[in-house]
Amino acid sequence: MVVNFLNLGKQPLANNFLEIDKVKDEFFYDLEVCFDEDTSLVSLTNNVQKELMFTEGYVYHSSGSKTMVNHFSDIATKIIKKEPKKILEIGSNDGAFIKNFKQEIAVAVEPCSNFAKITQDFGYDTYNKFWNTSLASEIESKHGKVDVIFAANCICHIPDLDETFRAVHYLLKDEGTFIFEDPSLLSMLFNTSYDQIYDEHAHIFSVYALKNILERNNLFINRVEKLKVHGGSNRLFVSKSPGCDNSVDDCISNELSLRINKLETYLVFANKVEESKNNLVKLLVELKNANHKIIGYGATSKSTTIYNYCRIGTNFLHYITDTTLDKQGKLSPGMHIPVVAPNKDGIDTKVDNVFLGAWNYTDEIVAKEKYFSGKFITHVPYVRII
Ligand code: TYD
Repeated sequence: MVVNFLNLGKQPLANNFLEIDKVKDEFFYDLEVCFDEDTSLVSLTNNVQKELMFTEGYVYHSSGSKTMVNHFSDIATKIIKKEPKKILEIGSNDGAFIKNFKQEIAVAVEPCSNFAKITQDFGYDTYNKFWNTSLASEIESKHGKVDVIFAANCICHIPDLDETFRAVHYLLKDEGTFIFEDPSLLSMLFNTSYDQIYDEHAHIFSVYALKNILERNNLFINRVEKLKVHGGSNRLFVSKSPGCDNSVDDCISNELSLRINKLETYLVFANKVEESKNNLVKLLVELKNANHKIIGYGATSKSTTIYNYCRIGTNFLHYITDTTLDKQGKLSPGMHIPVVAPNKDGIDTKVDNVFLGAWNYTDEIVAKEKYFSGKFITHVPYVRII
């Protein structure tokens, strides 16, 4: 049975930053989350049409942080050592990962045409399409079966996992490896980071749920690596051959000991989410009453969920700074907070408090803003001033 356990209210598209004259036509949907008692998969109850989210105006770009650029260069170096003859990336975005490979051996799949154009211009054969079995067959007819399929923060965006994994199984060589990484459900539960939930994240994965769904598609998890990126992620090494090292058993026994396969766990999480909202609003009210100037840092997709669920707008935040050119000069989705370019010399000295919308880059941000004399606010793992 599939059971709804969390309702985050009416939400806009998390990356739909608005031109000032376009606020009237904004699209909203009901952001609810459910638990499948058969597979233990946690998913959105209502999926937004993919063509509305992944458009030619998509703004998130993977090369936007040094952390991610280094992260992709590290895994690419490890893959290159295995000398793959052909590698395919699903969801290649602006090429942060694929640019580490020679053009002759790498194929990109990217539904957002603005990003597909970037890797195409760099000489990578790029399919500006959504991943599915028909695309896998089209790619095979030109490139043959591939040694490695890679996807980062992409598989969790696709509602139909059986179709996705069937397509992977089809295109992967029998001895090939499918490597994919996505935010970890366990990290979300630990951190009460409910902001991982938004339109694009059709699922938040546990390794246990993925094992159930991969195996029914004849794919097997051979190894799991825990990653720090995106607030805690899992990288899975998957193939057509069963057999795994301790990392898989350790991960799954840990998840099961924390009862990720029980509905009660999610009901407790839902209560913590409400508590987090109440505490954040309470803190912001106190700071505002003390005449503090508060801003947001990082107009992340994640922060769209927080701002809309907690009703945080210009009532609390003067503006949000973000390094992404395509977000600057626009209004944040739903709550319409102005997004501006960061100051070259660091955070404006008149600012007292900064809410970390990009809390997953706290170390990078704190290092960059070492001259900021005010205080950062975060909601992970609980609401507090750092
Ligand atoms: P991120 O947290 O990776 O993703 P998501 O949108 O998936 O929640 O987004 C990081 C955003 O934060 C991105 O818009 C760039 C911005 N950012 C800054 O403005 N300054 C910084 O120093 C960093 C690290 C990120």
